[in-house]
Amino acid sequence: MIPLFIPEFTDEMKNAAVDALQNEFFVMGESVHKCEEEFARFCGTKRAVAVSSGTAALRLSLIAMGVKRGDSVVTTANSFVATSNSIVHAGGKPVFTDIEQSTGNMDPSKASMGGSKGIIPVHLYGNPAKLDEIRDLAGERFVLEDACQAHGAEYKGRRVGSIGDAGCFSFYSAKNMTVGGDGGMVVTNNDELADKVAMIRDCGRKTKYEHTMIGYTNRLNTVNAAIGRVQLRMLEGWNEKRREIARIYRDNLPGDILLEETPESKPVYHLFVIRTRDRDKLQEFLKVRDIGTGIHYPIPIHMQPIYREMFGYRGGEFPVSEQFSGEVLSLPMFPGLDKDKAKYVAGAVTEFFEGGKP
Ligand SMILES: Cc1ncc(COP(=O)(O)O)c(C=O)c1O
Repeated sequence: MIPLFIPEFTDEMKNAAVDALQNEFFVMGESVHKCEEEFARFCGTKRAVAVSSGTAALRLSLIAMGVKRGDSVVTTANSFVATSNSIVHAGGKPVFTDIEQSTGNMDPSKASMGGSKGIIPVHLYGNPAKLDEIRDLAGERFVLEDACQAHGAEYKGRRVGSIGDAGCFSFYSAKNMTVGGDGGMVVTNNDELADKVAMIRDCGRKTKYEHTMIGYTNRLNTVNAAIGRVQLRMLEGWNEKRREIARIYRDNLPGDILLEETPESKPVYHLFVIRTRDRDKLQEFLKVRDIGTGIHYPIPIHMQPIYREMFGYRGGEFPVSEQFSGEVLSLPMFPGLDKDKAKYVAGAVTEFFEGGKP
């Protein structure tokens, strides 16, 4: 079986974890601070604040940016549900926008800010969103990058996460970089914002016994930070391997099922996604050939039962997202995927389109 994804776990990670457990505080130990410094350096930002998940990174950033009950925030209908859940957690209302046919990312030409406080573009599948256009659209309002799928991706020579007012990352185990469990990071060049996020993640604490905000317990555990530091050292090499696999797919698959890369960007292929009207048949065809696939995402966020119930969305409002969700299929993609196996996958997909359709 060729799975969709296999996480990396090495002896170095195991040793780092044991070392941290034996020699540091379990909570907010030295590894957490080092992980923050190293991640900020990696992204090219002044600051990084480690938190307990990508969702917490988004929620805490929104609260720190001043989103309050009733405020609206623009985001894409085509993402993992956590992107827009974070707006709801902060008390706000998500205002969705449709996506580009070619990439699945937010289409800035279809978005309008209205009275919204800010905007959350998502670098979906590891491919940067059009940040220049999104910045122009946002004007003075905040741009919060959801880079949860894009660790190390570049837009016009800069690492994503460092371009908006802040950027959020997830270290969930299927991401390009993990911490051996849940975790996340907020990066920013704004000291005041970083300090606020750090306070909110730690019970709103300004000093040990003084609380100036209503905060949460959303810290990153020391043991996870220690594993994350080892993963971070491997990340660039792993991303390069993902690009090599993507090259094999791009060179060997029919052109009309490929998504496009954002111009002047360097994607990191968190997922390799193709699209076809025959998606369900193709998925079955590959399963019979022992090839694992995934669907990211089968239901656009506005069509999720809870979003229909809470915000009254119906079908038809974001037609590109709705069509996209019925056509996308994620092929196996992880750094350890053998090149011959990637060629086998590409061969099987090609065979399907050349007449093998069941
Ligand atoms: C685009 C996107 N945003 C947010 C999240 C939330 O991250 P987490 O699962 O770490 O809370 C994820 C990942 O799961 C994601 O893919």
